[in-house]
Amino acid sequence: MRSAAASLMVLLSVVAARGQMNNPHATAEDRAAGSKIFRCHCAPCHGVKGTGGLGPNLTTGSFFHGGSDADLYRTISEGIAGTAMPGVFFDGAQVWQIVAFVRSFDQAGARGSVPGNASRGGQLFRQQGCIDCHLARGEGGVKGPDLSVIGSQRSAEHLRESILDPNARVSPEFWVAKIVMKDGSSRLGFVMNQDTYMVQILDFSSGLQSLSRSDFKDFGIDRSSIMPSYQGKLSETELDDLVSYLLSLKRQPGRSE
Ligand code: HEC
Ligand code: HEC
Repeated sequence: MRSAAASLMVLLSVVAARGQMNNPHATAEDRAAGSKIFRCHCAPCHGVKGTGGLGPNLTTGSFFHGGSDADLYRTISEGIAGTAMPGVFFDGAQVWQIVAFVRSFDQAGARGSVPGNASRGGQLFRQQGCIDCHLARGEGGVKGPDLSVIGSQRSAEHLRESILDPNARVSPEFWVAKIVMKDGSSRLGFVMNQDTYMVQILDFSSGLQSLSRSDFKDFGIDRSSIMPSYQGKLSETELDDLVSYLLSLKRQPGRSE
């Protein structure tokens, strides 16, 4: 009996050690090398200190796509399909060095905690009309991006900026086509597709439409956002509540949205 228990202990400690010690490139030099690569290739989205930006905060100690060294290696080398997270073309040793650096965030203890009350934020999301344009928790409009998992994708700072200054960064899918037709009517919508002859728009009043350029009198693209700025319309507390609500819209294990 004793020896069975002893060998179980040995087995458990081996398993535990493997969970943490997979990374063959985890010395202080490796971390420093990883830090250099991170600064150039990851910081533009995750911030120099890993606290996030256009990409999520990596310092909270929890990773939806898996937090073991092997998981991080896979996420970083392959990227995450269907999201802004790209794969990288570094050799294996360099990817391990990046993993070592990303791991060091945990130890830095810089956990992103956000003030604000998520359930009050959820109410504001309706009251302020956000839901007219954005999908969240299975309901809402489609004039803006789907926010169903935005909390897994962006940092608190980015969300705050998106609410106060929607024009700071508008991706081309949300530029608005303003078309005046030869018959005097006008169209307003997102450009879905275009070629030499046709422009396909998602018209704000009538849905998807294919229009022939030869019928246009005037065709302009407005690169500003249709989302109104909420600067001055929300108190600091309301803004915190909204950001905290948006951060709570996380990917759920077992769901693919
Ligand atoms: C163009 C922006 C961008 C760049 C560059 C980028 N990322 Fe990401 N990253 C993202 C986004 C967006 C996500 C969230 C994907 C999702 O789950 O929807 C993400 C997710 C991740 C995750 C998974 C987080 C989790 O919860 O599991 C890790 C780890 C990560 N990135 C590390 C890196 C590293 C390391 C680099 C540099 C080699 C890098 N990223 C470069 C945008 C980026
Ligand atoms: C009239 C429609 C409209 C309303 C109302 C609106 N939005 Fe938006 N929102 C958009 C559009 C379009 C974009 C994409 C262009 C941009 O970044 O401004 C966007 C972008 C965003 C983003 C950035 C998403 C990303 O991928 O990073 C966030 C966050 C956001 N909105 C939150 C809100 C919140 C919170 C409210 C209410 C306080 C709100 N929106 C109200 C249309 C709207």
